Amino acid sequence: AKVAIVGCPFSGGQGRSGVDLAPNRLIGAGLVSQLANLGWEVHYETQQSFVDIPYNPVPADSTQIKGKEVNNSTPGASSKTDMIQRLPDPDIGRMKKPRLVSAVCEKVASEVGSIAKKGWLPLTLGGDHSLGLGTVSGTKSKYPNAALIWVDAHADINTPETTDSGNLHGCPVSFLLGLTGCNIEPFNQWVKPCLKPEELVYVGLRDIDPEERKLLKANGIKVFTMHDIDRHGIGKVMEMAIAHVNKNGDTPIHLSFDVDALDPSEAPSTGTPVRGGLTFREGHYITEAVAETGCLVGLDIMEVNPSLVDKAAAEKTIAVGCSLARAALGETLL
Ligand code: ARG
Ligand code: MN
Ligand code: MN
Ligand code: MN
Repeated sequence: AKVAIVGCPFSGGQGRSGVDLAPNRLIGAGLVSQLANLGWEVHYETQQSFVDIPYNPVPADSTQIKGKEVNNSTPGASSKTDMIQRLPDPDIGRMKKPRLVSAVCEKVASEVGSIAKKGWLPLTLGGDHSLGLGTVSGTKSKYPNAALIWVDAHADINTPETTDSGNLHGCPVSFLLGLTGCNIEPFNQWVKPCLKPEELVYVGLRDIDPEERKLLKANGIKVFTMHDIDRHGIGKVMEMAIAHVNKNGDTPIHLSFDVDALDPSEAPSTGTPVRGGLTFREGHYITEAVAETGCLVGLDIMEVNPSLVDKAAAEKTIAVGCSLARAALGETLL
């Protein structure tokens, strides 16, 4: 089987820099050879570049380019990036960086979609979780009936009208569902509401905004909170979660894993940590249970931010990100 890794150095869906460093750090930790050792044919050349998107204020991972911009003493030596006019991206309503997030997600959707259409498994490395709008749109372009398992401390179902923070990493699910307020520029230029409420299940939630709670209830969306995991155990919860979206056992599954679903003791380097999260084993059990279905068609590892806390924390979080990806791709199955 073939997996293609889509590295997305993107932080524009939230306010903390550093989450854009994660793809290269996860690759640097050996993810390609780790997956190859599981028997996968791994396709990876380099991470995505978003510098061609004119709203991108600072090209990610562009130390040399930035150096050139600062040192203007060599006229004529301008790089390609210098030539691109940077356009302003003012807030639209409450949304921060809407044009940038939209353009990046559109590009990611196209990349993930073309990988899926080759019959390969797209593994997207974030970057922040606004990218989920792109990855799930891509998966849905090939598998219109795909289910979405969203593992997170948060529901990420704010709409442009309900978001308090304005951070679009708190909003991708509402756009996928096409909730009220989401038919808005620039997103409505490409986003297709492609997800039905009954195709979605959450695992690990424990920090839900009041307006998100209303949306989850009004749309009848299945949620397994940390409380549910305490009550039933992760084994039973995953049995119920998979049964909810995969009634006949043949529904394609997209798994979007925000590492902040894990307890901060296991994944400390993330932008919005919430205590009381999944243990190391609970997190891995989720990915293993999805691997066992044989229905996985899309995987995201999101919100690793290696610049947060300290070096040891970053290494721990990077290691667990790799480990979750391996488990989702069958490492621990017999
Ligand atoms: N609910 C909060 C918001 O909308 C936090 C979202 C956190 N999302 C994430 N992908 N870590 O701003
Ligand atoms: Mn989260
Ligand atoms: Mn909030
Ligand atoms: Mn998230």
